[in-house]
Amino acid sequence: DTAEKKPQKTFHSFFAPKTEPKVEDTSSEDKKSSDDKSVKKACLSEKKEHGGYDPAKSNYHPIEDAVWTRNEKVPYLALAKTFEAIENISGRLKTIEILSNFFRSVIALSSSDLVQCVYMCLNKLAPAYEGLELGIGETVLMKAIAQATGRGIDKIKADAQEKGDLGLVAETSRSSQRTMFAPPKLTVPAVFNKLKEIAGMSGNAAMTKKIEKIKGMFVACRQCEARYLIRSLGGKLRIGLAEQSVLTALGNAVFRTPPGQEFPPEVLDAGKGMGADTLKKKMEECTLVIKTTYCECPNYDAIIPALIKYGIEELPNHCKLTPGVPLKPMLAHPTKGVSEVFKRFDEADFTCEYKYDGERAQIHILENGEVHIYSRNSENNTSKYPDIIARIPKVRNDSVTSCVIDSEAVAWDAEKKQIQPFQVLSHRKRKDADASEIKIQVCVYAFDLLYLNGKSLVKEPFRKRRELLHSSFKEVEGEFVFAKSMISSNTDEIAEFLDESVKGNCEGLMVKTLDVDATYEIAKRSHNWLKLKKDYLDGVGDTLDLVVMGGFLGTGKRTGKYGGFLLGCYDEENEEFQSICKIGTGFTDADLEKHATFFKDHVTEKPKPYYRYDSSVEPDHWFDAVQVWEVKCADLSISPTHLAAAGIVDPEKGISLRFPRFLRIRDDKKAEDATSASQVAELYKSQQQIQNQQKSEKEDVEDFY
Ligand SMILES: *[C@@H]1O[C@H](CO)[C@@H](O)[C@H](O)[C@H]1NC(C)=O
Ligand SMILES: *[C@@H]1O[C@H](CO)[C@@H](O)[C@H](O)[C@H]1NC(C)=O
Ligand SMILES: *[C@@H]1O[C@H](CO)[C@@H](O)[C@H](O)[C@H]1NC(C)=O
Repeated sequence: DTAEKKPQKTFHSFFAPKTEPKVEDTSSEDKKSSDDKSVKKACLSEKKEHGGYDPAKSNYHPIEDAVWTRNEKVPYLALAKTFEAIENISGRLKTIEILSNFFRSVIALSSSDLVQCVYMCLNKLAPAYEGLELGIGETVLMKAIAQATGRGIDKIKADAQEKGDLGLVAETSRSSQRTMFAPPKLTVPAVFNKLKEIAGMSGNAAMTKKIEKIKGMFVACRQCEARYLIRSLGGKLRIGLAEQSVLTALGNAVFRTPPGQEFPPEVLDAGKGMGADTLKKKMEECTLVIKTTYCECPNYDAIIPALIKYGIEELPNHCKLTPGVPLKPMLAHPTKGVSEVFKRFDEADFTCEYKYDGERAQIHILENGEVHIYSRNSENNTSKYPDIIARIPKVRNDSVTSCVIDSEAVAWDAEKKQIQPFQVLSHRKRKDADASEIKIQVCVYAFDLLYLNGKSLVKEPFRKRRELLHSSFKEVEGEFVFAKSMISSNTDEIAEFLDESVKGNCEGLMVKTLDVDATYEIAKRSHNWLKLKKDYLDGVGDTLDLVVMGGFLGTGKRTGKYGGFLLGCYDEENEEFQSICKIGTGFTDADLEKHATFFKDHVTEKPKPYYRYDSSVEPDHWFDAVQVWEVKCADLSISPTHLAAAGIVDPEKGISLRFPRFLRIRDDKKAEDATSASQVAELYKSQQQIQNQQKSEKEDVEDFY
């Protein structure tokens, strides 16, 4: 998550004392006035008041260390000080603790302000589907700062360029208007509501009105408030606070200082006297409840008041998955190679589905018959797809009264009856489309069902969800179909399926467990969806030159030819050929024809005495060792059946290739020139080293649903 990146520490935040208000006027336009002393005095009392707020304090006391009193609106300065403390510290854990301390005070003293505080931390105004966003342009912000401070806009622009942060410029420009008069102090709800008003303004005079509102807040700013106010307005808070951290801080806060208590609260710190491990576990439990609830009902306006009113245990009963409110979509974990799929899923049954290259579409059918469609980011894209909405009645089974479908909307060429590349879809109108004017057709590829007839299915395993999807809807070609899928744990079959998917204009495969860890509970992050893309195969793996040892008779399209072959490497020491894989992919029809004709003359009744293989991989026809093929593979693994390099890496087991693909015949090589057993062992060892490196690089960067 890029939001977690911190901006570089600037000159300013290095030298400005953290809690000391700035008294010195740094702007050159303003001569030091005789008012300096009174400024200093005012600031000192300010400090004792809200300015002295320190949420990073150890043994933080949510009431005594707060700088406001019960039922007082949360001072914006307390939030700004929290942001400053977070910005000045590095490390996710510390960040979460600071924010959680601030939340504990809000919960204990001014719980009705909590929802605005959370939104301000996220630099958001409303749920994504309401489409209300901040992001005031820099020019407007500069104008407001110039007008409020009397500084020239050119100077502000130059400063901004030098400092790279308009927030800091605003903060240092501010002092020139300090002594004029003292406007009321800013509070979090007041600032939040103003931001909302500003974001909602449109039309002719909007710019002037926005500037007026911004100025109004700006002149009331104290200390670091201006910095964060301007950044929030610009939609660039950038203090290194990802949504997941905010949710964690909230979970920790509600465990330690539970909401809904009488005042003064009996429990101010439920963690008191608790061992560190127990505390951690308890806080994690609360956090998981909040995260899970947020995934199913991503609306803080619903969650936070329910949390305050009913408490954490009851929260899931009051904020549930509801058709009409988008839920967070499950995303897939990219895999670095095929072996990772097998490693992660271990023995669990899994299924492979085509990974369609379009736009995620969460289709909600409401009780009242309305159909809404939401994007991957929970944006409301209902008006983009009148065509999809129009076809719902004919694809839904009469038994369906309400549901939520997870699908991919893919550009479709109705004449050629084929999927079009992703780029085509981006030319489609993004909203308020008129069904009769749509030029770019889409086909819905449905792959999951998350809600059906009043019941959430997210805790059901995928196998069941998919069955319900299939029995609740009918396919209509080119309009609404189910994602193509298959169940197999045979690497060759998977490789072939992957190949087909790519030929059919898909990105690759999605691999999903069916029963184990197969719920749609995003917050649990069980990594149960994996992506397998074509380029993972192309990017990795070496090519090997292997001897064709035998052939398996083909079925279906390959009847009358060989459908697959047994390949081997050459072990110089024992002067034998050792089986390394079966291969069934990479062949064109012409290739298969050619191989069938060629090997017809080289079939032997029995395997050669110098062939080493396990009886479980015995081919239908054995061949003489007369041809070498160049083969590419995804990776190498220790094998229970193949015997390549047996005794070198493992005392008994051999090595096999995963996802081998035929590249070409090596006419220039004799069988004894094939890749040797010791080379195979080397390839395997160096691959392990790379994988271990990748693992340690990856450890820290996971922040996805
Ligand atoms: C999404 O848009 C549709 C119509 O465009 C509207 O009926 C629906 O209420 C919107 N959904 C939300 C959650 O606002
Ligand atoms: C979804 O709708 C929003 C709001 O109208 C729009 O900004 C966004 O571009 C749309 N997304 C797509 C993928 O079309
Ligand atoms: C409709 O749903 C019912 C119950 O799930 C099922 O028995 C029936 O086969 C479905 N009809 C169609 C046409 O799919």
